[in-house]
Amino acid sequence: MSRKRKSIKHRPLPPGPTGYPITGCLPEMIRNRPTFRWIHKLMQETDTEIACASASEAPTEFLKKHDLIFASRPHCMSARLTSCNYLSTVISPIGDQWKKMRRILSSHVLSPSMHRKLHEKRGEEADHLVRYHYCGNVIRKAVFGKRFFGPGKEDGGPGLQEREHVDGLFTILTYLYGFAIADYVPCLEIFDFDGYKKIIGDALDNVRKYQDPEITNRVEMWRKGIKKTEDDILDVFINLKDSEHNPLLSVQEIRAQITEIMLAGVDNPSNAVEWAIAEMINQPHILNRACRELDSVVGRGKMVQESDLPNLNYVRACVKESFRLHPVSPFNVPHVSTEDAVVGGYFIPRGSHVLLSRPGLGRNPRVWENPLDYNPDRHMVEVESAQVELVDHDLRILSFSTGRRGCPG
Ligand code: HEM
Repeated sequence: MSRKRKSIKHRPLPPGPTGYPITGCLPEMIRNRPTFRWIHKLMQETDTEIACASASEAPTEFLKKHDLIFASRPHCMSARLTSCNYLSTVISPIGDQWKKMRRILSSHVLSPSMHRKLHEKRGEEADHLVRYHYCGNVIRKAVFGKRFFGPGKEDGGPGLQEREHVDGLFTILTYLYGFAIADYVPCLEIFDFDGYKKIIGDALDNVRKYQDPEITNRVEMWRKGIKKTEDDILDVFINLKDSEHNPLLSVQEIRAQITEIMLAGVDNPSNAVEWAIAEMINQPHILNRACRELDSVVGRGKMVQESDLPNLNYVRACVKESFRLHPVSPFNVPHVSTEDAVVGGYFIPRGSHVLLSRPGLGRNPRVWENPLDYNPDRHMVEVESAQVELVDHDLRILSFSTGRRGCPG
């Protein structure tokens, strides 16, 4: 062992609860559901910010300084089922499959040219904003080129099929990385003691029973030459070719990646907007100021266009404040270390799961003044012409994160 490794191992492990012999902390985790609250309570009781990382410097250490070491994801039941055995991007551990899928997403789906190409589809859905879940509608349109899997409703609202689809997505999001017993004692997966496997399996069935036939039909249409132009993300996936002109993605990879795109876009934006509106209702002066900005930038009685967004600085600050105070989930997507490391003076052994606490950071009084106040002004930049950026490069909010696993969307 090198001298450096020896000195790393002499550092203490981060503080945490003392586990029982053999079962470790599993009984406590089961007794204290939901587990994320138990972890946050423990951190308060032990007066630590790094049993789970919420210290103001921790995100920079994990996501910038040691980005390479902490760039993997955990293997766990919910992730495996959702990604068809790690075929997609967000959920896959570091490796060739992750590299391939992330490259495809960055160059072909989240590229400026694709963004322009899908502009009209987003616009159509923005005009239907009040008809149920905008994010669900817009992603179905971008991926499948249609709003409805079934007949929909006459007034343009969602039918039973779309409701079931979006409900399935939200259930998966609730249970993904959800501290299932099987993740800590894999041989117990078959018994499914906490019921997570059934819940997530049923939700995936409800999502895939609508998506998968669309994918199979479209592959057939291209094969038979019925379809000739690329109109949406599904067409793009089907037509990607490797260096020998064979399909770059298998049907199973397309299925897994499409489920993940649906999950990536369905809850985050809607959660931020819903909280911003709720906060504005409680503080009408904020609502009035946002309305005044809309009147002056967009014009009274007109619909907001995407081209208006760069000029809606106060509205952007309201959304950013929602990301800070009301994050969509308590923890960032988990990271896993591929080597031993020292962070904040503690020894973090290889294979550790790193859960960055969003409220631990966004509501941290050492990072934010009066952290529990919803105050968009704190994000307004002093120079009037400068834009409020939703991404926080200093990582005082984990909105889009950063580094190798940062959000490319
Ligand atoms: C308001 C909207 C969104 C927010 C706030 C958001 C935020 C995030 C966050 C926090 C991560 C985890 C970063 C980490 O592990 O440290 C992430 C990862 C990711 N997001 Fe987003 N996201 C949004 C929308 C989207 C959309 C619409 C897409 C694509 C369709 C997308 C694609 C991805 C991908 C592919 C990753 C995983 C990157 C990787 O593991 O290599 N995101 N996002």
